[in-house]
Amino acid sequence: MTRFDPVGPLRGELRPPPDKSVTHRAALIGAMAEGPTRITGYLDSEDTRATLRAVAAVGADVREGEGDDYGGFFIEIEGIGLRGARPAEIDVGNAGTLLRIMPGWLAGQPAGEWTFDGDESIRRRPVDRVAEPLRLMGADVDCRDGRLPPLRLRGSRLHGIDYEMPVASAQVKSCLLLAGLLADGETSIREPLWTRDHTERMLASMGASLRREGHLLTIAPAERLEAGDVPVPGDFSSAAFFLAAALLVPGSEVELREVGINRNRIGLLSILWRMGVEMGGAHEAGRAVTIHDIREPGPEPIATLRVRNAPLSGAEVTAEDVPAAIDELPLIALLASFAEGETVVSGAAELRAKESDRISGVVEGLSGLGAEIEGRPDGFAVRGTGGLRGGRIDARGDHRLAMVGAIAGLASTEGVEVEGFDAVAVSYPRFERDLRGLIA
Ligand code: S3P
Repeated sequence: MTRFDPVGPLRGELRPPPDKSVTHRAALIGAMAEGPTRITGYLDSEDTRATLRAVAAVGADVREGEGDDYGGFFIEIEGIGLRGARPAEIDVGNAGTLLRIMPGWLAGQPAGEWTFDGDESIRRRPVDRVAEPLRLMGADVDCRDGRLPPLRLRGSRLHGIDYEMPVASAQVKSCLLLAGLLADGETSIREPLWTRDHTERMLASMGASLRREGHLLTIAPAERLEAGDVPVPGDFSSAAFFLAAALLVPGSEVELREVGINRNRIGLLSILWRMGVEMGGAHEAGRAVTIHDIREPGPEPIATLRVRNAPLSGAEVTAEDVPAAIDELPLIALLASFAEGETVVSGAAELRAKESDRISGVVEGLSGLGAEIEGRPDGFAVRGTGGLRGGRIDARGDHRLAMVGAIAGLASTEGVEVEGFDAVAVSYPRFERDLRGLIA
């Protein structure tokens, strides 16, 4: 049990830890390339360590270098090429991204057998969403009860398909893009809504041939990928917790440096805009959120965000908003309980298939702290009361719920005890230290 009490203003600057999504992809795609890929700022967390073990298990040589001050370290991966993976049993731990993306690469190997399994929570996460389209490409794959891990596959010859994704999922899209590299003929994927495009950016920077027309993405088969340097940006989804804390705690002023601002990740900012948070560029200093120093040191754009305490009003969040803010929706629930007016989130049934059922986790968790929140099959509705009493919240083994509990505590009147706070290690082991470092 870890306790977070109400505090005075949050002040100071911080570089959030490296991006989890980009880190997973850098290790996987580095292993698929030929030659050494150097990753600067590899996220040091349980999920991303599982990916390093996975690529080592299939034969890539992983050399771990010095750690940095931001929760990352330097990695060099000697790739084994697109078709050189050796058979392995892969333990993904709690990492859904590893579970769903890596089979795309292995399904197209000339021969061999692989198993993917993980912890208790991973065993509840659907994999039919990747197994079905892979099968359409000719993959030999099966899973428990037709939809759950363990997932087993044998390498086989793949062919390109035209696939319309029923759910907007970057993991499914990425899995099929990797399979498409090994297939005969082109693979086209239509996504119902834009999702994060880290895989596309990284593959293109390593020489893959991809084209996008609106929601339709086409990838050509490849003989090889060129290894290179991959700088990992700060994780917007981790930065989001400090952004929320600074908005909620009176007198706060926080600077978040080198944060990834990929437009398919920063949907929280447009939702906050609709909640009345004024935003602007470097010269609009009066705004609650200002964006500075935009750069593109690699395939991903980064920037510095300055955030101050600001009042919030309720807003509507619909299906179109969901993919770019999917991991921040529990935080929206927290922010909404401090807002004036009602916030309704709909079209977000996917939240039920995350590390935990995040709809019931956030509804029961925040209700227990005094929020007026009601669950719906595809989201939740929050009646803002301007504040939160506090109490006790169960993280349910879910890193993002644990961090929501911590921020709730700082902004509450009585403090919050987070049960199962250790879950933060999945994406952000140093979260508590970084957060306490901002408390003036
Ligand atoms: C991720 C995609 C999202 C997100 C997850 C990471 C990724 O999942 O929720 O935390 O790295 O591709 P879905 O693809 O299932 O929406």
